[in-house]
Amino acid sequence: MTAGTTTPHAATAPPKTRKRILTGDRPTGRLHLGHYVGTLENRVKLQETYDTFLLVADHHMLTTRLDRLDEIETNIRDVVLDNLSAGIDPDKVTIYLQSLVPQTAEIHLLFSMLVTVPRAQRIPTLKETMRDFDIAQPSYGLLGYPILQAADILCVKGDLVPVGRDQESHIELTREVARRFNELYGDVLPVPQALIPSERLLPGTDGSTKMSKSLGNAIDLADDPASVKRKVMGMYTDPARVRATDPGKVEGNPVFVYHDMFNTDAAEVADLKERYRAGRVGDVEVKQKLVSARAEAARTLHEMRAAMKLDYFGT
Ligand code: TRP
Repeated sequence: MTAGTTTPHAATAPPKTRKRILTGDRPTGRLHLGHYVGTLENRVKLQETYDTFLLVADHHMLTTRLDRLDEIETNIRDVVLDNLSAGIDPDKVTIYLQSLVPQTAEIHLLFSMLVTVPRAQRIPTLKETMRDFDIAQPSYGLLGYPILQAADILCVKGDLVPVGRDQESHIELTREVARRFNELYGDVLPVPQALIPSERLLPGTDGSTKMSKSLGNAIDLADDPASVKRKVMGMYTDPARVRATDPGKVEGNPVFVYHDMFNTDAAEVADLKERYRAGRVGDVEVKQKLVSARAEAARTLHEMRAAMKLDYFGT
């Protein structure tokens, strides 16, 4: 491009050579192993290949937690620390707080002219959130939640958005906004794609299909060894097995699902499975080995978390 045809913006914008990722979390509190398996692990891989932006969506948080603002600051720190300790590299990833980039809110306002009210009302997460939070009438802000998300993504010209399946409708709306904007003003915005990982749901410690903070069946990334031990020793196993000498079921047994995911000693896992099926090992030993395996995996994570906390927050 010659100087004569370069606009001031194009001259200062950094060249975009790699595809760009934008993803984010609402600061709802500490992340757990279900988040790790569902999204964090994937993010850590993607940061090697793409320019990655990771946002902490504190404005999104206001749509449902207006009365609990005192928790937000701690939650923001926890979400950032959990991402860093899981392996997000701050030299590779741009991590930022949504409210500190006011352009996001400004673009949200402009985008809100491009989305009709009925279109926003049709997004399935609106009804789900109203049900979950017992909201009789949505605020204007809650209705705009997905439009704000479109602003997050398009503000950095994100090409790819790694999210869970529950967010698919928001990315679809983002695509519509980008197309509409481009129709009106030229080819300015990318039409981003959702990157939805194959469903790898981690069961909760109580054996229910999904680990979730609100169900009280989660192991947090930052849990100390004593809490992990307490939670694992209380885990559900094969409900049909009464005595350690009864043959047990390995498939779908949450203790073995966790072994498969977190125990790096494959020989130990194979041995435990074989003995479990044959009724030659008790639940206690299987759980104790899981506690040790998790303690091993969590050690680096805890060290990272403590170091990062000092580096980034000074406390
Ligand atoms: N809505 C997302 C969630 O609840 C969080 C989020 C906000 C987000 N802005 C985003 C995710 C932009 C991806 C891209 O999980």
